[in-house]
Amino acid sequence: METSEETLKYYLSSGGLDSIPKENFSNFDPGKQKDPKSKRLAEEMVINTFNWVKEELTPFLAIFGNTGVGKTHMCRASAYFLASYQESFIHMTNQRFITIMKDFDKHESISSNELISDLMNRKFLIFDEIGFQYDPSGWLTTTLDGILIHRFDEELPTLICGNVQPKGQILTDRLKSRMKEKKMFTVTDMWDVKDYRGSKK
Ligand SMILES: Nc1ncnc2c1ncn2[C@@H]1O[C@H](COP(=O)(O)OP(=O)(O)O)[C@@H](O)[C@H]1O
Ligand SMILES: [Mg+2]
Repeated sequence: METSEETLKYYLSSGGLDSIPKENFSNFDPGKQKDPKSKRLAEEMVINTFNWVKEELTPFLAIFGNTGVGKTHMCRASAYFLASYQESFIHMTNQRFITIMKDFDKHESISSNELISDLMNRKFLIFDEIGFQYDPSGWLTTTLDGILIHRFDEELPTLICGNVQPKGQILTDRLKSRMKEKKMFTVTDMWDVKDYRGSKK
């Protein structure tokens, strides 16, 4: 399918991206990782993400790991791919989510329900930097948990990435429990992968 630049930009901007990402599936090269284990895991990550975006994987895909392993690259490449196929998606980072929600909070006249319902129901959700500025008892964590659980129950394609341990404290118990459902949830644990920036020559 041929997508004009104008259409591409329209889909990107309705998904929350102002410009065409420089990250895509062709300029991610697992072979650039130096050690064999990092290479293999980087390969697995890109295959999983590509299959997820084509809806040929489980509805939920999580990528966890250190900084610089390519998580954000996968998120932005997915957004680019979906926009190219004119699919409806929303790309969100935890930082932006917090900023927008706190802003709604300040101006009580504006409702945050619209954003929450959009995050719940948009066909694809790409959520990066999960766990950033974690606040366990806070309403933001509870709200995000509600969004993710709703999407899980509706089997809506959802990609979550972050610097968190899959079994650690930061993810909610409800989400961790659902991660055990292998038909619904693929977890790509990248904690053994080296920072790509350090391996670059
Ligand atoms: N295997 C790879 N091939 C090409 N670029 C990569 C690869 N791994 C990481 N990068 C690049 O390295 C930088 C850091 O990756 P990023 O996706 O931001 O990591 P993370 O979100 O996991 O911290 C980005 O510019 C990304 O495009
Ligand atoms: Mg990142």
